[in-house]
Amino acid sequence: MTAFHTLRWTVDTLELLDQRWLPDRCEYLRCDSARSVAQAIRDLVVRGAPAIGCAAAYGIALEALQLSGASKRQFADGMDSAFTVLAQSRPTAVNLAWALQRMRGSVAQTAGMDGRQRAATLLAMAKQIVDEDLDINRRLGSFGAALLPEHACVMTHCNAGALATAGHGTALGVIRSAIEAGKTVEVIANETRPFLQGARLTAWELQQDGIPVTLITDSAAGYMMGRHRIDAVIVGADRVAANGDVANKIGTYMMAVLARRHCIPFYVACPLSTLDMAVASGADIPIEQRDTAEVAGYRDLRWAPADIHIANPVFDVTPAELVSALVTEKGVVPAPGRAALEALLAG
Ligand code: MRU
Repeated sequence: MTAFHTLRWTVDTLELLDQRWLPDRCEYLRCDSARSVAQAIRDLVVRGAPAIGCAAAYGIALEALQLSGASKRQFADGMDSAFTVLAQSRPTAVNLAWALQRMRGSVAQTAGMDGRQRAATLLAMAKQIVDEDLDINRRLGSFGAALLPEHACVMTHCNAGALATAGHGTALGVIRSAIEAGKTVEVIANETRPFLQGARLTAWELQQDGIPVTLITDSAAGYMMGRHRIDAVIVGADRVAANGDVANKIGTYMMAVLARRHCIPFYVACPLSTLDMAVASGADIPIEQRDTAEVAGYRDLRWAPADIHIANPVFDVTPAELVSALVTEKGVVPAPGRAALEALLAG
């Protein structure tokens, strides 16, 4: 069990571990409305596909609390704006839309209740989404753990850990579960330019749990695969299309190509809520473009020349053919494609 909480509910407030400042400062940001949660998601206070879904669900509960004394009309209007602002906070991770869809279902079911009962029911639903996420990560973690040898070296990209979920993590959940099962695992963490989720978050969270980790630059990944025994590359996902293409943090595609070149299995660990069967292939997944200042420098430091043209796509798509297996809470899907994903969801 990790010693920190990515999100926690205290009295009538959502507290988010402010990931912008890790590992320097471990501070919580308090949110009391859907708008403040949406801002926190946009600003990467909370990030990672399942975690932003959980935060958005709490955002709806917060708004319902604020509106619990309002008329039915005001409640309906206020909730509509809450759903809109949260849905627009980030485009790529489908878990956000998935969590909001579940909350919409609860809003509809509570239509006959008074404001206080509605708020309490919506809060209970948000908490259920969070509890389920933790449980899902534990289940997918143990399926994934079975893929690793007794003494494993795993490369990961970005942060798909407890910090990106309600707890345990997806890619890092596989590693935690393998260790709980008695295996030894050492991790190679890619720093993950430009927001440095690997250097700042994965390295910190593994260090907190005493899991051996070596931090490398993204550019060193090919060298490491060529010179060191790496048993698997394991990453998370923001959205998996119906044909098995995987959108994840920028640089993931490079890692998958390198892994194939070096005959290293490339695993994607994600909950079923990350599957988007409405999207035929990765080409249809919206890719977030963020502020170019993230590439030009970091915090107060700028290294790029002024007025230079910069692009900052923050996700990429790994074609399904490069994915050795998808690790989900329902089991491992080797070489995921449309038929395999449909069978998984139907089973
Ligand atoms: O921009 P971020 O930090 O939200 O991107 C996060 C990732 O790409 C993760 O790998 C993904 O969301 C899976 S988290 C379990």
